[in-house]
Amino acid sequence: MLREVTDSGLVGRGGAAFPTGRKWQATASQPDQPHYVVCNADESEPGTFKDRVLMEGDPFALIEAMTIAGYATGAHKGFLYLRGEYPRALRVLTEAVVQARARGLLGDDVLGQGYAFDIEIRRGAGAYICGEETALFNSLEGNRGEPRSKPPFPVEKGLFGKPTAANNVETLVNVLTVLETGAEAYAAIGTEKSTGPKLFCVSGSVARPGIYELPFGATLGELLTLAGGAPDLRAVLLGGAAGGFVRGDELDIPLTFEGTREAGTTLGSGVVLALDSSVPLPRVLLRIAEFFRDESCGQCVPCRIGTVRQEEALHRLAERSGRSPAGADGSAGGSAGAGAEDIALLREVGAAMRDASICGLGQTAWNAVESAIDRLGAYA
Ligand SMILES: Cc1cc2nc3c(=O)[nH]c(=O)nc-3n(C[C@H](O)[C@H](O)[C@H](O)COP(=O)(O)O)c2cc1C
Ligand code: SF4
Repeated sequence: MLREVTDSGLVGRGGAAFPTGRKWQATASQPDQPHYVVCNADESEPGTFKDRVLMEGDPFALIEAMTIAGYATGAHKGFLYLRGEYPRALRVLTEAVVQARARGLLGDDVLGQGYAFDIEIRRGAGAYICGEETALFNSLEGNRGEPRSKPPFPVEKGLFGKPTAANNVETLVNVLTVLETGAEAYAAIGTEKSTGPKLFCVSGSVARPGIYELPFGATLGELLTLAGGAPDLRAVLLGGAAGGFVRGDELDIPLTFEGTREAGTTLGSGVVLALDSSVPLPRVLLRIAEFFRDESCGQCVPCRIGTVRQEEALHRLAERSGRSPAGADGSAGGSAGAGAEDIALLREVGAAMRDASICGLGQTAWNAVESAIDRLGAYA
């Protein structure tokens, strides 16, 4: 089973694109006991809604996948950390766990095979940072949801200080396809480095927003065409608030981890937010900055202070232009030369956040703003 998952080339769908087989093998090989499986169903990246649809649509698939993950990594307990704002998913999953126990699919003797595994569902309380795996462990342990320094990595010291395999919902559900089709067939979908199918959460200025499943390697243009097209497209935010903008004419970008990296952006968890030219970009940037300032856990200085300074500078840039921050005219909200100091400050603060923050939140908090300035010419 471990070999199949490794050979399939499956990489995590939660944003960091880590190879799942390697994570499972590293967890399974730890002598320290017990081992845990954690399903990250916090789905807190703005613009992401694929995990909710998977859980509400087929909760048993996730239960089966978590059980398989437990079996493969030597765990007998799985925690499902569910975004607090998903009441329907909570109802559906709770009922499914009860039914699975009643049918012997969970419990002391799964399918009469002598293997014990059970799942406990825990709800988050609305903090974006609790999607970061080590903050999630702290939250599960009843502590503040603050990220831990890595190393040690979760496979060695995760939940309750024990070896833990933490995976995203979509990653886990893909394991079922790997085992059903076989590693080779799965690896034949997509590209060499990004294997299998991928769910994309398409929203914004498109005719048919929603979730689209495509093999990795389809282009941004193909995806937007499926979503009914995006006329007058000015920009696309890939990867959510932690991601980056590309221009509306960059439709050839292949939707793979390596393709987006080469194009100087990121795929993240699969957010594709289309913006036409009626959308006020400064307002969107301010909203993203507000989000990071709000969601920073405050543990480390570059992020705690940097996210505040970033938001302040974006406010000033909008005000200095003499236009409303809402950019009612649809412009970028700046005049040539105006605010050069603030843009320099943004770059300095952004570099400090990227280089010196403890976790991915601070490290990515300036990505979207930077890409809007450099790629879209915001405030030029
Ligand atoms: C600020 C922040 C928020 C995150 N939120 C989520 C999330 O909501 N869901 C998720 O699966 N991963 C999230 N991650 C990534 C997790 O830390 C981790 O990499 C992931 O759950 C591993 O699963 P995977 O290997 O299956 O992708 C987040 C990371 C950061 C830095
Ligand atoms: S980078 Fe931000 S969210 Fe992450 S630990 Fe530091 S303060 Fe907290």
